[in-house]
Amino acid sequence: MSSRTYYVTTPIYYVNDVPHIGHAYTSLACDVLARFKRLDGYDVHFLTGTDEHGQKVEKAAAAAGLSPQQFTDKVSQSFRDLVGKMNYSPDNFIRTTEPRHYASCQALWEKLVAAGDIYLGSYAGWYSVRDETYFVEGETEVGSDGKRRATSTGAEVEWVEEPSYFFKLSAWADRLLELYEKNPRFIGPDSRRNEILSFVRGGLQDLSVSRTSFSWGVPVPGDPKHIMYVWLDALTNYITECGYPDTDGPLWKYWPADLHMVGKDIIRFHCVFWPAFLMAAGLAPPQRVFAHGWWTNEGQKISKSLGNVIDPVDLVDAYGLDAVRYFLLREVPFGNDGDFQKRALIGRLNGDLANAYGNLCQRVLSIVAKSCGEKVPPKGTLTEADNALLDRAKGLLAIVRAELDEQSFHRALTQIWEVIGDANRYVDAQAPWALAKTDPVRRDTVMWVLAETIRRVTLLVQPFMPDSTAKILDQLGVPAEGRAFNSFDTELQPGTSLPKPQGVFPRYVEPKAA
Ligand code: ME8
Ligand code: MG
Repeated sequence: MSSRTYYVTTPIYYVNDVPHIGHAYTSLACDVLARFKRLDGYDVHFLTGTDEHGQKVEKAAAAAGLSPQQFTDKVSQSFRDLVGKMNYSPDNFIRTTEPRHYASCQALWEKLVAAGDIYLGSYAGWYSVRDETYFVEGETEVGSDGKRRATSTGAEVEWVEEPSYFFKLSAWADRLLELYEKNPRFIGPDSRRNEILSFVRGGLQDLSVSRTSFSWGVPVPGDPKHIMYVWLDALTNYITECGYPDTDGPLWKYWPADLHMVGKDIIRFHCVFWPAFLMAAGLAPPQRVFAHGWWTNEGQKISKSLGNVIDPVDLVDAYGLDAVRYFLLREVPFGNDGDFQKRALIGRLNGDLANAYGNLCQRVLSIVAKSCGEKVPPKGTLTEADNALLDRAKGLLAIVRAELDEQSFHRALTQIWEVIGDANRYVDAQAPWALAKTDPVRRDTVMWVLAETIRRVTLLVQPFMPDSTAKILDQLGVPAEGRAFNSFDTELQPGTSLPKPQGVFPRYVEPKAA
C-alpha cells in the first residue's frame, strides 16, 4: 500500500428525508476524487454515511409513526442504496447511531472539558430545527404570517430556554484566523473563504453544545439529561471513522482528512466550529474544506413542498448512469450554483458523449476491426501531426491531476474533451478510409495513433464514468493492471488481439408519448 494517504469525506446526510440530486452530487464529486487518487497510487479512504440524531430526525420519526431507531434504519438504507445505484466507491458508510460513534463523541467531549473549553450555563435564544442551528435575534425576521424565520435559510425558528453546556468558541477566533492565514487552501473556493474570514473577524460567540428538551442523541458524559448538540455529534463522525479516541489504531493514519466536501449551506460548521473543536482537543484540523454550490430545478428552488425534488434514481433510469455522472460534473463550474435542465442533460449526452467521445471510439475501433485484422495496428513512423495529438493526450494527466486538486471537475473534463475534439479533427484530416487504398502502412499508423489517444483519454475519464470506460478499455485490449496511472506512459502494443467493438454511448431519443 502506498504511504501517500488520501482521506475524503461527504457530509453525513440527515435521515429526515430520502436522498435527492443534491446529496447525489456531493457524493459523486467525492467518488470521482477517490477513484482518481486510487488510480494515481494513493492509499485512499472515502467515507460517507448518515447523520441520525437530533430534533429534526426525532420529529420526522414521530411523524412516520416509527421509533427513531426504526426510522433511521429505514431511511439510512435509502442512502446506502443510492451508493450502489450511483456506483460510488466508499470504503465505509458510517452511521451516528453506531456504538463506536457514541464512544468517540463522549471521548471528544471529555477532552474538551479537560481542556477547559466547556462550561455549564443556560441558553435563551432562537433555534431552527430544520437547520439544527442557533440564531441570534438579528439573524431572524418576522414574516407577514407572523412567523419568525432565519433570514439566511428561511426556516422557522422557535424560542428555546434551557440549561446548556457551552463551548468557548469566542476564545478561538484568533487561532482560527491564524489557521486560515497559514493555510490558504483550507477553504475553497475563494468566495467561501472570504465569507468565513469576515464571519470570524466579526467575532465569535460561545456555542451551545447540549440540549435538554429532547432525548434522541448522544448523552453528555456524567450528565445524561443533556444530549450533545447534533452538530458536535455529527462532525465527530470524521474522526470516529479513523478510530478515535484510539489514535494508535490502523485507521488513524488517515487523519487529518485531506478534504471534507460539503455544500455551501454547511460551511460554517466545517470551517469554524469543527477546527475549533479539534484544536481544543489537541487534534489536527482537516487540510481542506470545499463548499460547492446549490442546484435548482428548471429555475426553481428544490423543495418537497414545491414537489419538484429530483430523484437521482429516476434520472439514472431515464438517461443512464454514466451520462448523469458526466453531466452533473461537466455542466456547472464546481463551486457555482447550477440550474438543472433536462434539455441541457440531453444536449451533453448527445453532444459530448454520443457525438464526440462515442463517435470517436466507434469510428476508430470499427476501422481497426475491419481493416487491421482485429489487432492493435503496427506503429510506423510518426509525423508531426501524429506527435502533436499524442503529446496533447500525454499532457492531460498532469492537467487533470492539477484541476482535480482544486476540485475543478468541469475544467478537467473540458480539457479532456478538447483532446477528443482534436482526435476527431485528426480522423477527418488523415482520412484513414482513403489511405486504405493508397498507403495502408500509413493507415495503420494513423489508427495506432488514434487508438493510443483514446487509451490515454479513457484512462483519465475512468473516475467520472467507470462503467463506460471499462468497456472502452476492454475493446482496446488494455488489461486490468494497465489501467492505473502508473501505466499512463506505457503504449498500446501492436499485435494485441481486440474483441469485437460495440457502441458505448448511444444517442438519447425522446421516448414517444403513449
Ligand atoms: O446538513 N444542491 O445534512 P443534509 C446541492 N447532516 N447540494 C445539496 C442540495 C442542493 N440543492 N441539497 C442538499 C446536513 N445538498 C448534515 C451534515 S456533516 C458532519 C452533517 C447536499 O442531509 C450538500 O452537500 O441537510 C449539503 O451540504 C448537504 O446535501 C446537506 O445534507
Ligand atoms: Mg440540510
